[in-house]
Amino acid sequence: MTEPLIIGAMVRTLGAYPSGWRHPGAHRDPATDADILRHIAREGEEAVLDYLFFGDWLATGPDLEFRDPYLLARIDPVSAVLFLAGVTSRIGLIATVNTTYGDPYTTARSLASLDVLTGGRAGINLVTGAEPRAAGNHGRDAHADNETRYDRAEEFVTALRRLWDSWDEDAWIADAERGVLIDPAGLRSADLHGAQIRVTGPLNVARPPQGRIPIVHAGTSPRSRALAATEADLALIAAPNIADAIATRAQLRTIAADAGRSPASLKVIAPVLPVVAETDAEAHRIVERLLALVPLAEGHQPARTAFPPNRTVDALADALGVAADDPLRAVAFDDQVAADDAARLGEGGAALIERVSRIAGLAVSGRRPLTWRHLVAAHAVPAAFVVGDAHLIADHFESWRDAGAADGFNVLSAFQPAQFEAFTRLAAPELRRRGLLAGDTDRDGATLRDRLRISSRVDA
Ligand SMILES: Cc1cc2nc3c(=O)[nH]c(=O)nc-3n(C[C@H](O)[C@H](O)[C@H](O)COP(=O)(O)O)c2cc1C
Repeated sequence: MTEPLIIGAMVRTLGAYPSGWRHPGAHRDPATDADILRHIAREGEEAVLDYLFFGDWLATGPDLEFRDPYLLARIDPVSAVLFLAGVTSRIGLIATVNTTYGDPYTTARSLASLDVLTGGRAGINLVTGAEPRAAGNHGRDAHADNETRYDRAEEFVTALRRLWDSWDEDAWIADAERGVLIDPAGLRSADLHGAQIRVTGPLNVARPPQGRIPIVHAGTSPRSRALAATEADLALIAAPNIADAIATRAQLRTIAADAGRSPASLKVIAPVLPVVAETDAEAHRIVERLLALVPLAEGHQPARTAFPPNRTVDALADALGVAADDPLRAVAFDDQVAADDAARLGEGGAALIERVSRIAGLAVSGRRPLTWRHLVAAHAVPAAFVVGDAHLIADHFESWRDAGAADGFNVLSAFQPAQFEAFTRLAAPELRRRGLLAGDTDRDGATLRDRLRISSRVDA
């Protein structure tokens, strides 16, 4: 029988689509993040998803308001998972840690603590970071280059493993009668003297229930792929389409095999942004609304310098190669795209019109007309939407699994909580019916490792 997929939620409380926070009913106040986090965790747990995943970004600035608003201000990932440890009992909790700026001893300690507190539900996503402003927040002059970052990341993984291994499973004796608390022979130092990381150990938290906590890695460069394929249990990939995902997964598995590892022990996880509703038409209307809510360059105060420059009809026309004197450049955002306009936009324009039609159900001269606003917004803020009812969403998951494109998905929600609820309440039951989501509630007490179906790697 084919294995079910690994399915987790990539949690962004402000929504994964930049205009999601503007959708009616969407969560938009960081002061109430505790409520929304609790709500998302309960939803995810009831749908028996495998994990909740929290990314990280080590800087902020006003430029993020329009580009990636969810990065502006949010609860740090380790705090988020520790908070949720207390309100969940089954679901895995994965926090991102940046190896370029993080301290391995502190990281090993807080993740081991999470693992103990949750009975083995902790996971860690290691990233090396792509935000240059992070340097200034951590006393550095500049963000290190790719090679230096990945050299450190490799030492970081070694440090984590040695620290988690610094207590034998049976080192804690606690024999009150004999007065013996520990077996000193079961406690060893980490003894790492790397070029960038030095750590003595042992760790001051007893051995975590999972032994070695599952390691996730997210990145795109060749060094990132090497790290994921040799060290990670889960590799998070960027997958713009199925062909790309198939190629990336195959490459990761080849590197793993060349390194003497069983490729099956590496799970490749693709992102997906489903917009789910009871019917396809309803789901299309949600996307149409999200597109309409993308701020475009109209009535914008000039002082708001962080506004992205690509949100104009002119920018779209430039991208599509439309002549400088073409009357298209003078259209208003809410004008309909006429058939002869569409014909003048060339191949790029046709592809964009096809995409908007697929995600928002709008067509040139259609019953629900396509306007320039939809095209400019879809071009300026691209997203890998999969839009439709539960069957359509499940078809997407199934076709990717059957094609060998992914072992699982990180599910993003355009806005919270309604779109996450739509996924857990409409799509998840259909995924379970098709055997794509394990969803066996009888596995209470399963560790994250059990859920991910990865070997213990303790002796690897
Ligand atoms: C699916 C995915 C999720 C990622 N999540 C994060 C994140 O939460 N925080 C972060 O700093 N970087 C994140 N990254 C970025 C990577 O860490 C990496 O810095 C970036 O992709 C550049 O690639 P490279 O580090 O391999 O050069 C993510 C990348 C991917 C593909």
